[in-house]
Amino acid sequence: MKRYDFDLQIDRANTNCVKYDLRDAVFCNPDVLPMWVADMDFETPDFVREAVIRRAEHPVYGYHFKDAPYFDAIRGWLSRRHQWEVERAWMSFVPGVVCGFTMAVMAFTQEGDEVIIQSPVYPPFHHAVTAHGRKLVYNTLKVTDQGYVMDYELLEQQAKTAKMLILCNPHNPVGRCWTRGELERLSEICLRNHVLVLSDEIHCDLVLPGYKHTPYATLGEAAAQHCLVFHAASKTFNLAGLATSTAIIPNPELRERYVFFVEALEAHLGNIFGKVATQVAMEQGDAWLAQLLDYVQGNVDYVSGFLKQHLPKVRFFKPQATYMMWLDFNGYGLSEEALWHKMTQEAALGLNRGKDFGQEGSGFFRINLACPRATVEDAMRRLQKVF
Ligand SMILES: Cc1ncc(COP(=O)(O)O)c(C=O)c1O
Repeated sequence: MKRYDFDLQIDRANTNCVKYDLRDAVFCNPDVLPMWVADMDFETPDFVREAVIRRAEHPVYGYHFKDAPYFDAIRGWLSRRHQWEVERAWMSFVPGVVCGFTMAVMAFTQEGDEVIIQSPVYPPFHHAVTAHGRKLVYNTLKVTDQGYVMDYELLEQQAKTAKMLILCNPHNPVGRCWTRGELERLSEICLRNHVLVLSDEIHCDLVLPGYKHTPYATLGEAAAQHCLVFHAASKTFNLAGLATSTAIIPNPELRERYVFFVEALEAHLGNIFGKVATQVAMEQGDAWLAQLLDYVQGNVDYVSGFLKQHLPKVRFFKPQATYMMWLDFNGYGLSEEALWHKMTQEAALGLNRGKDFGQEGSGFFRINLACPRATVEDAMRRLQKVF
């Protein structure tokens, strides 16, 4: 079997790449080691690149459409990997998962309606609600000795008046791969209170060894009929620049309303290369992904061991999914500003600032471990020196 080299260092600077080329703008330091934006420093798999190059060699890049083999590739992947049998009719193209769930917020709620999110959570969950005049309701996650859990008692109250909940399944940044039981409990509350669920499952293929993703729509027929699920190959295969994702909506009425909205915005067309890349990734990506997940798990284990040994004041729970770790630096007793300065200017590390994920993220940083081990080791040395 082919072995992929995840230790390979790739120079991404000067490619208009957000993670490297916006360092100065974001961190006021052009030399930070960038471990923020959620894409990977690994090569997009060779079989994906080859397919894109083959298509690029055709001299016309006109309008295209997504054909049956494209959707069948995604259906095959979801069936094989998550035991989720998706019908072709349920699926439609959306450019991005954020764009996809934001359009759902716009299509299914009115200004002033309440939308629940489970903070700390990926910043666009907040913006999708506030930028369109909807009211954010924070069903803040609870921290226990075992890790983050959902607050169902609070959800019971909030669901009485809210119209929608945006679920991060698995969760970024806390790295939880929600169990079927946890999701069932959430779903039961949402169904009983007529709260529509948008399930962002962009990280579902990045579940680490020992854990199992539960697609929201597999919780049962009632849950399936009351949700919109968003999936993409973009995180998993490093294709985020190709802006290609899928909305999966089993309920025909919700689907009709959603697709009408998306088409009215002309947001359903997409680009040729995203189609080609996604299809081949979903058809051929299993072996590559197995190696990627092993490598990422190795990085997670390395960081966990290092922090425990050398920086015991940094609190964390090992992620069950995603290639991110959510690190709590509050044990140092420093202000948020002082921590940010120390991180960006003294350690010269470019990590995501915790408070961007919600106010409970103050004093936290999110580190992206989808990079060669040598980069991770460098990051840990920088932390050790300064903290
Ligand atoms: C939970 C989650 N949803 C969506 C996205 C972005 O998806 P897209 O680029 O398809 O909008 C990210 C990227 O980090 C993410 O973590």
